[in-house]
Amino acid sequence: MRRLSELDVPVVVHPDPDRPPTRAELLAGVSGAAGVIALLTERVDEELLVAAGDQLRVVANVAVGFDNVDVAAAGRRGVVVTNTPDVLDEATADLAFGLLLAVSRRVVEADRFLRSGAPWSWAPTLFTGLDVSAGATLGIVGLGRIGMAVARRARAFRMRVLATGRRAHGAEAAALGVQPSTLDELLERGDVVSLHCPLTPQTRHLIDERALARMKPTAILVNTARGPVVDEAALVAALRDGVIAGAGLDVFENEPEVHPGLLGLDNVVLVPHIGSAGLATRDAMGLLAIDNVAAVLAGRPPLTPVTG
Ligand code: GLV
Ligand code: GLV
Repeated sequence: MRRLSELDVPVVVHPDPDRPPTRAELLAGVSGAAGVIALLTERVDEELLVAAGDQLRVVANVAVGFDNVDVAAAGRRGVVVTNTPDVLDEATADLAFGLLLAVSRRVVEADRFLRSGAPWSWAPTLFTGLDVSAGATLGIVGLGRIGMAVARRARAFRMRVLATGRRAHGAEAAALGVQPSTLDELLERGDVVSLHCPLTPQTRHLIDERALARMKPTAILVNTARGPVVDEAALVAALRDGVIAGAGLDVFENEPEVHPGLLGLDNVVLVPHIGSAGLATRDAMGLLAIDNVAAVLAGRPPLTPVTG
């Protein structure tokens, strides 16, 4: 955050980086601000915009996703909203691929087993799992910047890649051997299905009971996008009943709560929304947010604005 000092305006910083501000602290803290740098844990809505006041010019969200921000309400008040795309693509794709490998090869389950002290010896079927590099099919739901970075990894692992999204039809996807697909086809054919779409009214519960039922009983779901894209109760039932084989989850429907049904399952790997948590990536996200605020306050166009 060194460059906060270069903003040439007084800066108020929430004092405890490990605890989000309470709503009351947040509303009081933004009062009178010309710019707000927000984390995805903060709801930026009409109430917050009013609490800030009419001098507010920019809200810089330190995340690529901006479902926590009411962009239309900001637009009505002439407030620019920015996010942090691009700088976190590789880190997030690394985590998605890490979850893909961890669930496929049962790494966390095997680690728990070994630590339990249970007797074991090498055996032909001990912790057998999905052969990722033997032509397994990956379905990428929402082939954007992050999905494309996942596709590059999948290509190195010689996976077949299907994808939904506008960019699935483009030259970059074709060069990576990505086949454009419908959601249903991707769900039916995917050995692994990885979610990379934003959370919008259209994608809320995109992966519901019906979608899960289309997947193979051997399939694995990976979610590093947003929790509410998946109906978490339906996912718990599908994992418990063998409708699908496993899941790797970085995000949850009601963060920071995790559905209790997930915690008892062996075939899931759960991590606390750390997709972009590379050290350099987090610095880059913070600096991009600061640069966006600095640009707008100086009367220049923002670097990475979003539209609703
Ligand atoms: C993290 O979840 C982000 O949207 O950047
Ligand atoms: C989504 O966050 C993307 O940029 O792919």
